[in-house]
Amino acid sequence: MRTLIKNARVIDPASGHDAPGDLWLEDGKVLEITPAGARAAQKNDAVIDAAGAVVAPGLVDLHVHLREPGEEYKETIASGTRAAAAGGVTSVACMPNTHPPIDNLATVEMVLSKAKQQGVVNVYPIACITKGRKGEELAEMGELQAAGVKAVSDDGEPVASPMLMRSALQYAGMLDLLVINHAEEKSLTGNGVAHAGFMAAKLGLSGVPRSGLEIMIARDLLLAEETGCRLHIPHVSTAGAVRMIREAKARGVKVTAETAPHYLALTDECLATYDTNVRVNPPVPEASDQAALIAGLQDGTLDAIATDHAPHSRREKEMEFALAAPGISGLETSLSLVLTTLVATGKMSLLEALRRMTANPAAILKIPKGTLAPGADADVVIFNPEAERVIQAKEFVSQSNNTPFDQWQVKGRVLATLVAGQVVFFDPAFEGKIRKV
Ligand code: NCD
Ligand code: ZN
Ligand code: ZN
Repeated sequence: MRTLIKNARVIDPASGHDAPGDLWLEDGKVLEITPAGARAAQKNDAVIDAAGAVVAPGLVDLHVHLREPGEEYKETIASGTRAAAAGGVTSVACMPNTHPPIDNLATVEMVLSKAKQQGVVNVYPIACITKGRKGEELAEMGELQAAGVKAVSDDGEPVASPMLMRSALQYAGMLDLLVINHAEEKSLTGNGVAHAGFMAAKLGLSGVPRSGLEIMIARDLLLAEETGCRLHIPHVSTAGAVRMIREAKARGVKVTAETAPHYLALTDECLATYDTNVRVNPPVPEASDQAALIAGLQDGTLDAIATDHAPHSRREKEMEFALAAPGISGLETSLSLVLTTLVATGKMSLLEALRRMTANPAAILKIPKGTLAPGADADVVIFNPEAERVIQAKEFVSQSNNTPFDQWQVKGRVLATLVAGQVVFFDPAFEGKIRKV
């Protein structure tokens, strides 16, 4: 089966390609990129007219909470992967802070088999660093890796013990497994619910000082440097963290890092409404931190943009700010927020922004995704980067609609998403552009 996606602006950050043309897919793989109209479609080829749209590798999101098993009232593998597809995301790495946690072979296999049966995008389960996420003893990393796990994390909780974190890096290092540590020093972050700045003080919210995040990042960078092992730092949110990661990279430390779209779009000024949808961990910082995050993305200090998609039910958000569960449902807004905050503002080219959502996260996870190279899996997003739209939380495909971006006017509309050459999402208005010859 062949598919022609024609008349597009084809962008493949992995090869630096950005030009008008056609993308050909065959039997679930990328066949080739050709100049527009270079070859005509044959009988039985599917044709998608992507005039005016961008065609790019499907987005790779290396930090997503799918909530299954155990919290299916927030999200499931089925609903979360559908939300991903609606956001142009074709591969997700899902965090193991589920109930039970993904810390053993049986649970990894359960997630993989559900993903195969009910998921519409590729799912890469991240397993726990420690058994039960308790920070006491290491999980069976070799066994987990043999089942297909690419990374380990106790996300939501830090590995508090420096000794255990050092062992984790060494064991994972031997297996070339990626360690992602939720960087938070609990004795400093305590019961803080907002960035410890002027706004939190004014509003009477208990604060999370930057040091509460940065001390743990400093520790982990020292351990990664000493052991020579790979470390990935999730949800980077402060200027100090960017500076330390930049310095560590310059010294050759094997560290990669991500930030999330909400840190690019929000500052702590937005706390003024007490909207619990703004409550997220780590908290949204000040404008000066946001500027440092953008500079970090521009100079490559921050490798990837990941959503930290953290769905929560209404029940967990409709309460006073300090008691609300932290997290933002992000899969369906990430591309638009990146287009609006980075690309439309001229801070980053479309190709470079997409690199941080495709080739870079795929390289961090060491998965063969995020490229339109011939022979690659035909995972593709088709989107209009210029379209203006108003975010409608109530129309989310995700089971949860905890977003601070409801009613925001943004740029960018996903028109269709393909996984292994199959259309897994399309905008109803775009349907007519998809046809058989
Ligand atoms: C995440 C969650 O809800 O699981 N919440 C969040 O605010 N980011 C946990 C996490 O990513 O640390
Ligand atoms: Zn976390
Ligand atoms: Zn997370």
